[in-house]
Amino acid sequence: MKVLVTGGTGYIGSHTCVELLQKGYEVVVFDNLYNSKIDVLDKIKQITGKEVTFYKADMRDKESMRPVFSENTFDAVIHFAGLKAVGESVAKPLLYYQNNIAGTLNLCELMNEYGCKRIIFSSSATVYGSPETVPITEDFPLSTTNPYGSTKLMLEGILSDLCVPDEEWSVVLLRYFNPIGAHESGLLGENPNGIPNNLMPYIMQVAVGRLPELGVFGNDYDTPDGTGVRDYIHVVDLAGGHVNAVDKVVSSTGVNIYNLGTGNGYSVLDIVKAFEEANGLKIPYSIKPRRAGDIAVCYADPAKAKEELGWEAKLDLTRMCEDSWRFAKKNF
Ligand code: NAD
Ligand code: WQD
Repeated sequence: MKVLVTGGTGYIGSHTCVELLQKGYEVVVFDNLYNSKIDVLDKIKQITGKEVTFYKADMRDKESMRPVFSENTFDAVIHFAGLKAVGESVAKPLLYYQNNIAGTLNLCELMNEYGCKRIIFSSSATVYGSPETVPITEDFPLSTTNPYGSTKLMLEGILSDLCVPDEEWSVVLLRYFNPIGAHESGLLGENPNGIPNNLMPYIMQVAVGRLPELGVFGNDYDTPDGTGVRDYIHVVDLAGGHVNAVDKVVSSTGVNIYNLGTGNGYSVLDIVKAFEEANGLKIPYSIKPRRAGDIAVCYADPAKAKEELGWEAKLDLTRMCEDSWRFAKKNF
């Protein structure tokens, strides 16, 4: 089976390429390299012994993607390409709508034109807004508070609408919780530019000594230790979920929606402690005011993915912390 991975040199996409290649899929990637580096392709080859076919293409320029479709026939598309920084999306909404929405429209037009009507889309737990209860099931009400989240919610709607007039379309919407960790080889992982927004990349910058301390955003939430609780999932587990989703997207039509999380909630201080214990390091921190837009608690009910995709997360928090640190030591 031949799978197109958009955004395949990025953090989650690169790990998914590895899982697909190891399971015997043929993989084609396109990316504009806006937030990733071309040497990821060599790392994927080092890990798997196999090559992906790469195209440099930008979703905003439909014609730049055309050779990807005219030179290949795909069984399915896994669509990771997009911009993902919440704060930047508030400052530059047009950039986010143009890139994520207009780019995906171009992609879908080409998929229609070349008769590939199966797509797995990277959505996010951000579409649940501020959930009233946890764990979160897929039928919870949806809302967003920033342009990034709005692009995810709009794209869920747009992709679902494709299935209404044309029953050949098959859409799998995957709502990721908080991916962290890295490939155990230390070759693939996440190394954001500038000062990181997300918790684990920030902790790693403190661990390598580039930033003096972690600011913990609020300790007065209604949680066991007062700090925010999230469902952190190892990126390799998350990548594996996409392989199962390929089976689903090729064997069904219409829209299927799954949470990809572990079902466990950990606080910011749990993460700091787990990182310290897993790696024998100290992470200095101080309590700061709450970050605007943050919610207290968010974790998945992953039962539907287990039942219908036969997938569940296996790697624990210690592994997430060990693998993150191995990557940071080698690459930061
Ligand atoms: P990433 O930035 O590492 O990967 C995205 C890739 O898409 C990058 O390599 C980037 O260069 C590419 N890209 C962006 N715009 C493009 C365009 N116009 N044309 C071609 N390529 C383009 O991000 P990631 O963490 O791997 O996330 C992958 C997807 O999963 C994104 O859609 C993101 O919104 C979604 N997601 C991520 C998280 C997370 O916390 N990492 C959580 C939920 C959902
Ligand atoms: C986790 C916890 C912070 C940094 C974001 C997006 C979401 C999804 C995943 C894409 C929170 C606390 C963080 C720091 C801290 N991405 N924190 N100090 O906010 O749950 O989700 O990434 O779809 O859409 O919103 O992840 O890693 O930023 O924060 O105390 O320096 O860590 O307050 O409780 P978040 P995060």
